[in-house]
Amino acid sequence: MSPPITAVTSAAAAGSAGAPLPHITAVTSGKGGVGKTFVCANLAAALARTGRRVLVLDADLGLANLDVVLNLYPKITLHDVFTGKANLGDAVLPAPGGFSVLLAGSGMVEYSRMTPEVRDQLQALVAEVAPKFDHVLLDTGAGISDVVLYTVSLAAEVLIVATPEPTSLTDAYATIKVLATTQGRRRLHLLVNQVRRPGEGRGVRAQLQQVVDRYVNPTLEPGSGAVRLELVGEVPADPAVREAVQRRQLLLETMPGTAAAMALVNAAVRMPA
Ligand SMILES: Nc1ncnc2c1ncn2[C@@H]1O[C@H](COP(=O)(O)OP(=O)(O)O)[C@@H](O)[C@H]1O
Ligand SMILES: [Mg+2]
Repeated sequence: MSPPITAVTSAAAAGSAGAPLPHITAVTSGKGGVGKTFVCANLAAALARTGRRVLVLDADLGLANLDVVLNLYPKITLHDVFTGKANLGDAVLPAPGGFSVLLAGSGMVEYSRMTPEVRDQLQALVAEVAPKFDHVLLDTGAGISDVVLYTVSLAAEVLIVATPEPTSLTDAYATIKVLATTQGRRRLHLLVNQVRRPGEGRGVRAQLQQVVDRYVNPTLEPGSGAVRLELVGEVPADPAVREAVQRRQLLLETMPGTAAAMALVNAAVRMPA
């Protein structure tokens, strides 16, 4: 679903890519290490099971590690595409779990700062590859740097991953505020990872929504709508996750009966599309 016209206009004003493409979801977070890459890979597997063609793009250009989580050793990466050494089609690889990936690889360190050239390349690449898929997930970096914000601006929808930790919530709030004010985002999806008890995700959503209602919504341009957070799901803190990541396997493939795997399957159903 496309964001309202105001979102597109404000995104362009903020120096971003302009009209974000539909069926692209940026998976981002305020704080690092909250589980974005793990969530992206396993959500992609869950979405692929429903028959959709799914692509995950490792957009955490400076600190790419989707390849590590999926145990892939790519010969061709985004770096090769950007430098003209390979075609985009050759860089799209099949991943375990039945989805496709575009990996950044470790040669991408120089892209940790966004230059106009990288912006254009990234936008062109996403625009070229996205129509071949039903759903594209951008596994972005954390925080509110220009690199992260630009990558997020390429997506029509945003999924914020947060844990119930106070530091993660504070950083998630900062991300929400910046996306609302610089990109005109009004609908943001939330996945609460590493919850310690059932229902904690709903509590986190309510808490964040309350802060947004108090400090962000009153400051927005009158008539532009209010920011609303939609909970996609909560995933419990589960030792099986650490084990799967350690073994470089998809949780959904190797331990599908675990609480975290089942939570991700449920979350996939409520993903924006
Ligand atoms: N639900 C969970 N339960 C337990 N550990 C988790 C869970 N989600 C993530 N982790 C741990 O957090 C680590 C960091 O996750 P990662 O996806 O790399 O974070 P990010 O991409 O946000 O930096 C994982 O390697 C895993 O060990
Ligand atoms: Mg990551």
